[in-house]
Amino acid sequence: MSAAENTNAALQRAVASFDPAAADFSRLSTPLWDRVGQATVQVSKPEPGEWVLDACCGDGASAIPAARLVGPTGHVDAVDLSAPLVTTVTTAAAELPQLTAYRADVLEWPGAPERQEAPGAVRSYDVVQCVLGIFFFADMPAGTERLIGFLRPGGRAALTIWRRGAMAAVGDRLAAAVALVRGEPAPGPREPYLIERISTAAEYSRWLSERGLRDPRVVVHELTVALTPESAWLLVTGSGFRGLLHGLDDAQIDAVRTEYLALLEHDDVTEVDATTLIGSGLR
Ligand SMILES: C[S@@+](CC[C@H](N)C(=O)[O-])C[C@H]1O[C@@H](n2cnc3c(N)ncnc32)[C@H](O)[C@@H]1O
Repeated sequence: MSAAENTNAALQRAVASFDPAAADFSRLSTPLWDRVGQATVQVSKPEPGEWVLDACCGDGASAIPAARLVGPTGHVDAVDLSAPLVTTVTTAAAELPQLTAYRADVLEWPGAPERQEAPGAVRSYDVVQCVLGIFFFADMPAGTERLIGFLRPGGRAALTIWRRGAMAAVGDRLAAAVALVRGEPAPGPREPYLIERISTAAEYSRWLSERGLRDPRVVVHELTVALTPESAWLLVTGSGFRGLLHGLDDAQIDAVRTEYLALLEHDDVTEVDATTLIGSGLR
């Protein structure tokens, strides 16, 4: 399968949008990121003394709880592309010396020096976790396999994605509002991207098995987030959806906001499904 079939241009722009989104991203921690991060750590279950790699760590929603669980004899390496988010993690973890945050592309990252058995050799983490990150990889299967490759034999992975349809209530209306403001036709039907094809519990489990995870399991973490005009717009400016605003000027962004909120109000949308699939397994 080619990388082009795995991803889409909007997701690639979204990755670049996490730097400007950082302040608003952190305002979504309590209603969204922290809850999904905690749920993932309940699946990955880091134990005292273990080494954990938290890939695509954002502002630490799963890395910080993992650092508390591994305690002072363990260690968490948290990696994210976004410098402002990595700074937030480092500040938040001031009392957790067992957590080190790195600003890097996790797919290029060589691993913490302490985990390098030889230059360029794969490290041996006890746990690899990645919450709402793998679908940003241009080649999602290869990127996921690389994350799994950081595990020691017998180590545990917990990789969290949105369940099919999650966030669609805001994503669809935002896409319609953006098209309107850009003067483009409303988005029509298209072939589903890879992430959309695998985002049921059964499909995701099978896909993880194909990536080399043994005994794959998928936990469904149900969540809804209440929408007010403020929180609905925060979900755009503080997440990967911000990538859809790429190239628009301030007046156009204001127009998108107005159209998007009007569509939500017209359709009486008062909450959004934020349910995730937490896929886990052993190397
Ligand atoms: C939706 S956020 C999730 C953050 C965090 N895991 C959480 O659940 O709160 C996705 C994060 O993945 C990061 N990211 C995407 N691709 C990455 C890559 N190749 N290497 C490191 N970080 C990446 C982005 O910068 C962003 O912070």
